[in-house]
Amino acid sequence: MKHPEIEKRIKDLLGKMTLEEKVGQLHQAGGSIVGAFDLSLEEILTMVQDGRMTEEEAHKMISEAKRDWHEDDLRAGRIGSYLGLVGSEEMNRMQHIAVEETRLGIPLINGFDVIHGFRTITPIPLAESCAWDMDLWEHTARMSAEEAAAAGIHMTFSPMVDVSKDPRWGRIAESAGEDALLNGLYGEAKVKGYQTDDLARHDALAACVKHFAAYGAAEGGRDYNRVDMSPQRFEEEYLPSYERAVKAGARAVMPAFNDLSGVPCSVNKKLLTDILRKRWGFDGMTISDANAIAECINHGIAADRRDAARQALNAGMDMDMTSGCFLDHVKELVETDEVSMERLDEAVGDILRLKFELGLFDDPYRSDAEREKAAMLTPAHRALAREAARKSMVLLKNDGLLPLKEGLRIGLAGALASDGDEMCGTWAGIVQPGDCRSIRDGLEVEQISYDRVTEGPLPDCDVFLCAIGEGKNESGEAASRASLELRDEDIALLKRLKASGKPVVAVVFAGRPLCLGPAIECAGAILMAWHPGTEAGPAILDLLFGRANPSARLTAGFPAATGQCPSLYYDHIRTGRPAGKFKYTSKYLDAPVEPLFPFGFGLSYTDYQYSDISASQTKDGIHAEITVQNTGDRAGDEIVQCYFRDPVARRVRPVRKLAAFEKIALRPGESKRVSFDIPDTALGYFDPDMNFIIDDGLIEIHIGANARDTLRADVNFIRENQAPAANTSRP
Ligand code: NOJ
Repeated sequence: MKHPEIEKRIKDLLGKMTLEEKVGQLHQAGGSIVGAFDLSLEEILTMVQDGRMTEEEAHKMISEAKRDWHEDDLRAGRIGSYLGLVGSEEMNRMQHIAVEETRLGIPLINGFDVIHGFRTITPIPLAESCAWDMDLWEHTARMSAEEAAAAGIHMTFSPMVDVSKDPRWGRIAESAGEDALLNGLYGEAKVKGYQTDDLARHDALAACVKHFAAYGAAEGGRDYNRVDMSPQRFEEEYLPSYERAVKAGARAVMPAFNDLSGVPCSVNKKLLTDILRKRWGFDGMTISDANAIAECINHGIAADRRDAARQALNAGMDMDMTSGCFLDHVKELVETDEVSMERLDEAVGDILRLKFELGLFDDPYRSDAEREKAAMLTPAHRALAREAARKSMVLLKNDGLLPLKEGLRIGLAGALASDGDEMCGTWAGIVQPGDCRSIRDGLEVEQISYDRVTEGPLPDCDVFLCAIGEGKNESGEAASRASLELRDEDIALLKRLKASGKPVVAVVFAGRPLCLGPAIECAGAILMAWHPGTEAGPAILDLLFGRANPSARLTAGFPAATGQCPSLYYDHIRTGRPAGKFKYTSKYLDAPVEPLFPFGFGLSYTDYQYSDISASQTKDGIHAEITVQNTGDRAGDEIVQCYFRDPVARRVRPVRKLAAFEKIALRPGESKRVSFDIPDTALGYFDPDMNFIIDDGLIEIHIGANARDTLRADVNFIRENQAPAANTSRP
């Protein structure tokens, strides 16, 4: 929200700035690696890609090398922001140049990818989303902001709220899964956690919602690939999560790499101006993805860098992340009237506004080395990381093996069981070796005796804990997979352990849903641990030994076979021939249509019984209730999920759609009446002419423990005083 005093200061400053100084504000620079030669991060990544350098060499080079932050350019007013400058001392040194040595003393804004923790790493977003817990999401964001801000960072490129319905896409790890509502709520909680209600606080970060829009729908699950979809689907399934995060007050938005129905998001005026600014009233800053403006040449939409700069700025892009196209060409574009001074002032104004809101003009040095040291990996942060990990791991199978009894002798199998560094998952760039605790570390700290499974004869133990799945680099950006099957070594290991006749508990680490068929065959229990972060091992042991009761529920279905993707998601559209026994129905010859584990699924050490569902119409929508009882002998948290289905509509609608949920705590024997109020707008959709409508007639309400196992109540929904179907945007 604009503040009159800040607006006045922006206007005054714009009045004093030269054209060159304005252009400088639009440029976000990365640090080049200093060595015998001067290389940008992009060049190093290209060298890894084309084989001139190994990944290990690149990592060593990046982590050990000194960075050149282009001080002369900074002094000359040619840099408005940095990407990836970590460390309060270095940041203060650069800030000093910006504030003391440039003509107008405009401070820098420093951005970094603080995605699921900074030094203390919490579960990857896909994992944390399985907690269905807005308080937790907000608390962990607060913790990351405290650490990152202490290290000189002002803005995080998070939350990512890309609805991700295809687990082949590596970046599903960074999302809250396949549902629009969950992604929106996750984004809202993160924005609040990072920003607080006062961005000028020393421990606040500006949030940047990304990747606008529909990046998660990349064709074939292949990263950076095209996205082509109907406007109705876009509005109903993909836009709402960004809208919710933006309306929660996020002060920055990053357009996606992909093209959306033929127009790259970086130059997409409909997205960046019409929807974001005009429809939603966003008055923060837009920033491109890394090098994305220049990549419009590769998209075949811009003739050259100058053309790309012109299109992006005119579409509504404010800041250029590292491509340099704005820096090199905007001056000339303004001089030739291809970009208006008004548009340039708008872009610069958006950037200055965020700098004012962060308090950087009055208080440019927000941290120091002492504060930075004290903020990292504190006992309280480790405790929160452990709690978050416990609440994020999903118990997928348990034939009674879990919880394990104390005193059992454990056989520990699988390399991932002993590798703490692999536990952090994607985007955990500043983690130091030894920060994260593996299962083996956890066993050692607790002095639980175990034997390691090696190539030799199997140890004589009571139960095997077998770690399988993916390493940290196998999901995330540029880590899409064409096969989601377990790797051969994992399957062989599971079979070998099973053949011993001893019980096997599989602990699966991964950044995405995998095909777990072989694990189901070989293991009596399966715990989906994802990449759980700093306190992985201790949290896993808390759950395996029953010191905590698993409560997480999947936010993306698990495939039986890779070929089910991308039509595995729970809210798929109805067909004329729903899958059935009859041959000519919508199915596969060689795989089921249903997921192996459905959306919303997860087991507990106790049992819950659902009964007495009711639903009725209210003035504003639908009220539904259900009774849930804990019928087991342990306390637990249950996630009660409320879905609806619109059986006859003017456009083909999903088989079911999540409308609301509630996480409740139940003691043994306790029962609770859980109620939901679903606003009528949540039932609405876009008709074939793009009118937003809400149907009169039957609405089915389905409530239960997951998308598959629900009770049903019907409502004859008659919307009083419904406006004629003429509006083109959702209310
Ligand atoms: C590329 C990624 O797509 C984006 O999510 C990230 O924020 C930027 N690089 C900066 O690292």
